[in-house]
Amino acid sequence: MHETGSHFAPDLPEFYLGNPHASFRRLRREDPLPWYPGSGGMWCVLKHADIVTVSRDPDRFTSTRGVQIGIRDLARPGGVPPTIIEMDPPEHNRYRKLVIQAFAPRATANLETMARQIARESLEAIHPGTVADLVEGLAVPIPMYMIAELLGVPRRDRSHFKRWSDAMIEAGGGGRSPATDAALGEMLGYFQTVLGERRRAPKDDLISTLASARIEGSVLSDPEILMFCATLLAAGNETTRNLISGGSLLLMQNPDEKRRLLAQRSLLPNAVEEMLRVWTPVHSFTRTATRETELRGGKISDGETLLLLYASANRDEEVWGEDSDRFDVGRDHSHQRHLAFGFGEHLCLGASLARLEALILFQELLARYPNFELAGEPTLLRSRLMHGVEHLPVLFRG
Ligand code: HEM
Repeated sequence: MHETGSHFAPDLPEFYLGNPHASFRRLRREDPLPWYPGSGGMWCVLKHADIVTVSRDPDRFTSTRGVQIGIRDLARPGGVPPTIIEMDPPEHNRYRKLVIQAFAPRATANLETMARQIARESLEAIHPGTVADLVEGLAVPIPMYMIAELLGVPRRDRSHFKRWSDAMIEAGGGGRSPATDAALGEMLGYFQTVLGERRRAPKDDLISTLASARIEGSVLSDPEILMFCATLLAAGNETTRNLISGGSLLLMQNPDEKRRLLAQRSLLPNAVEEMLRVWTPVHSFTRTATRETELRGGKISDGETLLLLYASANRDEEVWGEDSDRFDVGRDHSHQRHLAFGFGEHLCLGASLARLEALILFQELLARYPNFELAGEPTLLRSRLMHGVEHLPVLFRG
């Protein structure tokens, strides 16, 4: 069993504020599946191929014992169902098929119009020639209001929705308090009322679709629907926010790549894939071995944790070549897949929505402020789960 050097500490937020990619690169070469003794101990899966192997085999590597560092075998209060992200087949298949119905029929054109409207309103609120925080001004509102629209939350309730989203993010980041619990309780109460109304008089929103979703006679219960609404807020908000802020930062730090995009806007969808790869908004998720097994020739014992480091896999030289650290908006993404959205059973349900939101935001931003530039030091988020930016001062040249 290999022990890693003291500077490799994937369970500590500080590690990600330093230069984690130097450690990942060295380990991929020297010891690509190291045992890390911190936080109860875990195998660190650094190679793209190994994350794919683990993610497509829930029978050997379960999600039911938690998917985040330090969150293992948490007792749930009676009656609280697990979230989709912590289910295995066959339960997971049934649930995923039911909730996917709520995503599938939403016409892309409709979502696109919504996203463009929110992006334009957010850009209009910025005064040309001034410095503003891109996170607060652009990265926060788009994902948040898109989820609000999807769920059918009316505009007049948006300020509540923002408070609940913030509480959700705070609680998820380990900042659970009586205040966040109260906000979350309020949110569940709100959705419970909306759900009751939609059961009586369905509308064209996600809650109505969830209420009527059916597979082979199976339907979703009220607690399952409420839990799914809360999951969407937790899974879709901060992640997409950080794709937008991280992607903007990458463009400002790589002015040649930004110029390339300005000259050839059709590269934008590919540039979003490259942002997802290089930035990787979620550093990692975990799995737990259900039996003694093997991976990369090493023995994994029953009950041991595996840390799937997407951030490392997305720069694996074997897949992306020796220049994998380089942000290249023209890089070929058609033959290999980055793992920013995970892989296999739990592949992100909101991937196409997140891609659409980022694409539209960057289209609008580049059209309105082609010369946006960094106006100070960005403040990075201190987190072992999310790769995020807290504040990003930007000069929006008119
Ligand atoms: C850039 C933005 C996003 C990133 C990087 C991201 C990342 C991920 C990852 C890595 C997983 C896999 C979890 C696992 O294997 O254990 C996942 C699952 C999931 N994501 Fe996302 N996500 C993003 C946006 C969204 C959005 C916008 C939504 C919904 C509105 C969403 C909803 C979900 C759900 C429901 C799952 C669980 C799927 C399942 O367990 O079957 N995500 N996401």
